[in-house]
Amino acid sequence: MAATDVPVTAVSMDTIVALCKRRGFIYPSSDVYGGLASAWDYGPLGAALKNRLRDAWWREMTQLHDNIVGIDAAILMHPRVWEASGHVENFTDPLIDCRSCKARFRADHVDDPNGKCPQCGKPELTPARQFNLMFRTHLGPVQDAGSVVYLRPETAQGSYVNFKNVLQSSRLKVPFGIAQVGKAFRNEITTKSFIFRTCEFEQMEMQYFVHPSDDTKWFEHWKERRFQYYLDLGIDPENLRFHQHGPDELAHYARDAYDIRYRFPFGWQELEGIHNRTDFDLKRHMEFAGKDLTYLDESTRERYVPFIIETAVGLTRSVLMALVDGYEEEQVGGERRVVLRFHPRVAPITVGVFPLVKKDGLAERAREIEAELRESFATFYDQGGAIGRRYRRQDEIGTPYCVTIDYDTMADDTVTLRFRDSMEQERVGRRELVARLHEATRGYRRPGAG
Ligand code: GAP
Repeated sequence: MAATDVPVTAVSMDTIVALCKRRGFIYPSSDVYGGLASAWDYGPLGAALKNRLRDAWWREMTQLHDNIVGIDAAILMHPRVWEASGHVENFTDPLIDCRSCKARFRADHVDDPNGKCPQCGKPELTPARQFNLMFRTHLGPVQDAGSVVYLRPETAQGSYVNFKNVLQSSRLKVPFGIAQVGKAFRNEITTKSFIFRTCEFEQMEMQYFVHPSDDTKWFEHWKERRFQYYLDLGIDPENLRFHQHGPDELAHYARDAYDIRYRFPFGWQELEGIHNRTDFDLKRHMEFAGKDLTYLDESTRERYVPFIIETAVGLTRSVLMALVDGYEEEQVGGERRVVLRFHPRVAPITVGVFPLVKKDGLAERAREIEAELRESFATFYDQGGAIGRRYRRQDEIGTPYCVTIDYDTMADDTVTLRFRDSMEQERVGRRELVARLHEATRGYRRPGAG
């Protein structure tokens, strides 16, 4: 961890990791074998949360725009792609070892790479050597140099090499975007911090192709729009900030880059990158593939290589952000209440449905109502234990609404709708319930948000 990373957020990573395992968000991969460093499995709630964060991004980046389309490119690509992209040559991290305790670090993550080992304290660190982060494997049965392929380290290149395909098969005109969600792989040296930095992760990237003279305008546009996206998701603005890359931080392809940083329990870290990649990628693919990837503007007859403004966020890193940001503890009636304040649009379960008691037909009625809600929302049915405990269990996994069926329901077909954040309750007619839940979701404001 670099010296600038000051621990600031209230919740500890240990608390988040324990909650994730206990409630079925995230488990160590291959748990029964003792786990695998840096690999994690998403349990029922974690998979749901990840899928819903993905869907929210997809909606925001494709459905809400008539000029952004989604694709799904293969993980394995022609090896020349990664020569053209510069990854074979440049996608490296500086690696140092401790000769004494054999620990391994990224030189830029150690306060003094020429000093003492952060783990054992001995002055036994080796000089830094460059280490390529791409995973290599072989396509086909023969393992020679000619069969080398890489697991993609970013989804972006799949969008660049499909630029012409998308253009020719759609009626899009510059400016337009290609969005993609998918797995990416990096042989990371530092793989601590739970799911923050892993070797296998998921990205959500959008490549926006623009006229070269419009690059600054669109860069600013996407910077602002992506920041607003997190505010709209109810993320605490105090935990978000921009960081502009200095000359020594810029990736080999970028002219300008901003991170949207999030205040994780281990300090401010990148959540999303917005990059002005210029015409670097398309020009390199033109050169390496020998294909024309220029764009002809029919109205002006101008032919040019578009610039690319990229927005790139980790989906799995977003899951960690949602968990950390949502986590709150408070005292209610002398008892500790743990709440995950997920936005209802991304909460793994939207509505918990409970009969007050199992008898007198209440359980059957609750099942009927749950079946109705299931058509529109992710639901969870629970009939065991005191109602207060059932509410608390849903609070702890971030369920924004609970519906309780009681004796009044049997008489007048109304239910109790209980809100996670305020714990307030209101009486709602069964027929109005779906509309009321949609309305509450549309109007959701996190407590304390402006
Ligand atoms: N196409 C540009 C690109 O890949 P990046 O900044 O290297 O840019 C984009 O990655 C995002 O992917 C990061 O902001 C981060 O959220 C996520 N990411 C990168 N490496 C990761 C890793 N090892 N584990 C989890 N997420 C990662």
